[in-house]
Amino acid sequence: MRPDDFAAWSRQVQVQMEDTLDALLPAPEAVPARLHQAMRYAVLDGGKRVRPLLVFAAGELVRAPVALLARAAAAVEMIHAYSLVHDDMPCMDDDALRRGKPTVHVKYDEATALLVGDALQAQAFGILADSNCSPSSRVAMLSLLASASGSGGMCGGQAIDLESVGMPLTLQELEQMHRLKTGALLRASVLLGALCGDEPLNSAGRAALEAYSQAVGLAFQVVDDVLDATADSQTLGKTAGKDAQDNKPTYVSILGLDASQALAKKLSNEAHQALGLWGDDAMRLRQLADLIVQRKA
Ligand code: IPE
Ligand code: IPE
Ligand code: MG
Ligand code: MG
Ligand code: MG
Repeated sequence: MRPDDFAAWSRQVQVQMEDTLDALLPAPEAVPARLHQAMRYAVLDGGKRVRPLLVFAAGELVRAPVALLARAAAAVEMIHAYSLVHDDMPCMDDDALRRGKPTVHVKYDEATALLVGDALQAQAFGILADSNCSPSSRVAMLSLLASASGSGGMCGGQAIDLESVGMPLTLQELEQMHRLKTGALLRASVLLGALCGDEPLNSAGRAALEAYSQAVGLAFQVVDDVLDATADSQTLGKTAGKDAQDNKPTYVSILGLDASQALAKKLSNEAHQALGLWGDDAMRLRQLADLIVQRKA
């Protein structure tokens, strides 16, 4: 593979993730089979795998072992998949389409969707707890994923999202909501990849990676808001136009489309600047900063 062939690199990571997730998820025939089948339905065969790509890209900076990166990536992808299953439930965004398929509560039922999320969350932490690295790295990874997932991260952002329906949020409030509901797990993905290395990054490296992950984390949800308003459901694999329909405050509703697109571009530039310390080792992180703002789905 040519080192600058981003498409081939990302396909390779995506294929590896499918195999790793397949192996780590419970077997479909294991009791309780319906729950296990629904967990596999929620996680396998779909999604862009952006969080795993970030884990692997950050892992390149520290020459981390691939098997450890794959476990960390599977853990964060399981938390993400659980967040989507719950996000789509009738008590949240009430969506019927996800990753081009009927949502879990539609395909199975609401109680199963709830349990799929619960079980995927527990499994994600179990995967990190059982990973083959030093005890101190393991604890650091567990702590990072816990804070990114909980009320100070994704769940907290989702709570703000739900209580903000129909409210004219300030730009600062909107940014905080986006940083929590989406930015936190993306940031954790980058930092998890860096924690998979044998040697910790020095403080300048840590600060640079922090700045990068803050920028791409926010940019990702700004673009999600833009795509909700501009793309079609078939391209997205989820219901387009849902934010306006549900009266959600988004970057598009508050800043407008052009300013939102300009902000995403500015954040991507910030992400590039943050990586100035590194040469080719940060190539994949640079390419992902571009993908996150240029993506069409
Ligand atoms: C969608 O995430 C939900 C957000 C956090 C914005 P993705 O756009 O990464 O969804 P998949 O994983 O590709 O389906
Ligand atoms: C959801 O944000 C973020 C999550 C934590 C799942 P959205 O509600 O905008 O995600 P989509 O657009 O349904 O994927
Ligand atoms: Mg939502
Ligand atoms: Mg939603
Ligand atoms: Mg959205």
